[in-house]
Amino acid sequence: MIQVKIFYAHNDLRNFSYLIWDSTTAHAWVIDPFDEKPIIDYIKKESLTLMGIFNTHQHWDHIRGNSALQGLFNCPVLSRNENQIELNSQHLIKFIDTPGHTSDHVAFYWQKGQDVLALFSGDTLFNSGVGNCHGGGNVVSLFETTNRLKKLPDNVVLYPGHDYVLKNLLFAKDCEPENKEIDEALKMVKAADTEQGLQWTLGQEKKVNPFLRLNTREIQEKAMVHKMSIDSGPSIERNLFIKLRSLRDNW
Ligand SMILES: [Fe+2]
Repeated sequence: MIQVKIFYAHNDLRNFSYLIWDSTTAHAWVIDPFDEKPIIDYIKKESLTLMGIFNTHQHWDHIRGNSALQGLFNCPVLSRNENQIELNSQHLIKFIDTPGHTSDHVAFYWQKGQDVLALFSGDTLFNSGVGNCHGGGNVVSLFETTNRLKKLPDNVVLYPGHDYVLKNLLFAKDCEPENKEIDEALKMVKAADTEQGLQWTLGQEKKVNPFLRLNTREIQEKAMVHKMSIDSGPSIERNLFIKLRSLRDNW
């Protein structure tokens, strides 16, 4: 069975790292290691073999633990050229190009055969938000990437690179004050244990994430383009996305 262990870093950036491992073979892979210590402790406790390291992008907080883990376990940092890594005979991790937050950002699909079970999104898609474009990013690319990810099935589970959900939801609430799903999500998040993550699906995200809700009237009004048709075309949605990202940057 494939398992996912979540590591919350308790730092100002509120990073998440993930260990994905097969309980039959005890083979494990780490995604975006921030603090290597709890990851090493867990690997030892479960007697796992670390097979490789995935990084969504090169920002320091997503690669911070690489060298310590490489040094201790003698495992490779997996490159985009690998295309996909088999976890066992049924499950795999597939590299997906997701430019926007940075130009060479990648995300990872966890697949069983052709079915995508989960998305490790790094700093592309967050719970109720998207990544910023401050450190070498491009907002139009981020829009195009977000639109592609939005087409994944609703039951795909999201594992983001940071816990920014509370502020993201408060921004979402500001955009859509009448959206009751956001009220419910806020209640859930306030009661949740950050250490455990949320494991929201993309279906849930589509109910509360303003960047996935560009065709709603409230979002259009928030972006001060309320005279535009609700039945909007791709370039209008792109402009809305850019405006919304800018509003969030200054919120
Ligand atoms: Fe980043």
